[in-house]
Amino acid sequence: MSVNQSIKPITTEEKANLTIGGCDLVDLAKRYGTPLYVIDEATVRGICRDYKEAFKDYSNIKMMYASKALCTSAITRILDEEGFGFDTVSAGEIYTVFKSGVDMSKVLFNGNNKTASEIELALNCGVGRFSVDNFYEAELLNRIAGEKGKKADILLRITPGIECHTHDYIQTGQIDSKFGFDLSQIDEIVSLIQDKYTNLNLRGLHAHIGSQIFEPQCYYDEVEILVREMARIKEKFGINLDEINIGGGLGVKYTDSDNPPSVTILAEAVTKALDKYSVEPHTIYLEPGRSIISTAGVTLYTVGSSKVVPNGRKYVAVDGGMADNPRPSMYQAEYTAQVANKLQAKNLEKVTLAGRYCESGDILINEIELPKLEAGDIICVFNTGAYNYSMASNYNRVEKPAMVLVNNSLSDIIVYRETLDNLIEHDNIPDRLKKQ
Ligand code: LLP
Repeated sequence: MSVNQSIKPITTEEKANLTIGGCDLVDLAKRYGTPLYVIDEATVRGICRDYKEAFKDYSNIKMMYASKALCTSAITRILDEEGFGFDTVSAGEIYTVFKSGVDMSKVLFNGNNKTASEIELALNCGVGRFSVDNFYEAELLNRIAGEKGKKADILLRITPGIECHTHDYIQTGQIDSKFGFDLSQIDEIVSLIQDKYTNLNLRGLHAHIGSQIFEPQCYYDEVEILVREMARIKEKFGINLDEINIGGGLGVKYTDSDNPPSVTILAEAVTKALDKYSVEPHTIYLEPGRSIISTAGVTLYTVGSSKVVPNGRKYVAVDGGMADNPRPSMYQAEYTAQVANKLQAKNLEKVTLAGRYCESGDILINEIELPKLEAGDIICVFNTGAYNYSMASNYNRVEKPAMVLVNNSLSDIIVYRETLDNLIEHDNIPDRLKKQ
């Protein structure tokens, strides 16, 4: 079993209270307050090992952590120590990775609308690869690289036309997508690079077919298309591409009904397609995000008010919700939870865990059986490491939670809780509105 097939962090234990990384979750809640993001270092390192083990016979595989899943300086340090490179999509992610001391040649810059200033920052920092998404960007990058007397190493982001069974918003490889060059546009962009864009050095092709993917066959089909296009480009343009990037997307287990494939199965699908065509691209990039960090993260909340409505449904509200985890309201995502301080309790009841934000859709978990809840109980929601903090907002002008890293019974803050002053620090009152 690989880590992405577990709902809980691998160090989770049921003692007097629930513990993760040897730390009592009730103590963590007391010490750091709630809501609190908790990341288990052993679980992050465990999935990194799973990936390295699954691809150990392929020295040409390079792992690039998709920072969009969770990008903080400490998380970057862990992934760097594990030998991962980084997929980045903004100046903010590039800057975080750069300031964390990463060798920038191991960084790739993705995105469908990179701005001129982001491109400049990326070139100044020495980012290793640009995944060029569209004609506009090719022209822009060529110009800016020329002005700096640099040559940018690029991959072309292509839309392979593969539809995976995942939520519509997180499908990216299908034909009708805002990302990448359509297969029918590849020849035109390759000709432009060959004839006109002399500051672009075309190294390979890139695709990403979606996120929370459970079907290994999608990867097989994707690699087949990438390899086929590489061969066609060589034949038609005489250009030897030696790199493919197959994106990320491997799913994780949020609830018992999710059955994501192991990393080994993913590796088999990828390598089977490569073997079939007996091609050995010099480098194959993989960009996992969710599967690296989701399982390692949990969120702790404190129970507050509750209410039973006439149809019998019981709402129990916690002190966080859609601003720290927008996924249930955005994608109808489902989560699992436990009450950290009531492991032995027997009398279960069905409740709907509601958030504290002023919106009816702010429900974290619809109908879950939990021990009878009282104000002050500590709820642990599992699998919140990916796309929670990274998509968090200050809706209702609420401070973003802190994040702690746990390992071997130690806990360290890796993101400080926002303060009320943080909330107003970027505000400005024009002189004419100032209170006299
Ligand atoms: N590479 C590219 C080009 C991507 O667009 C993405 C994710 C990844 C890699 C990483 O995919 P992962 O391994 O994390 O599935 N906010 C959504 C997920 C959006 C994913 C966007 N792209 C969610 O919460 O489900």
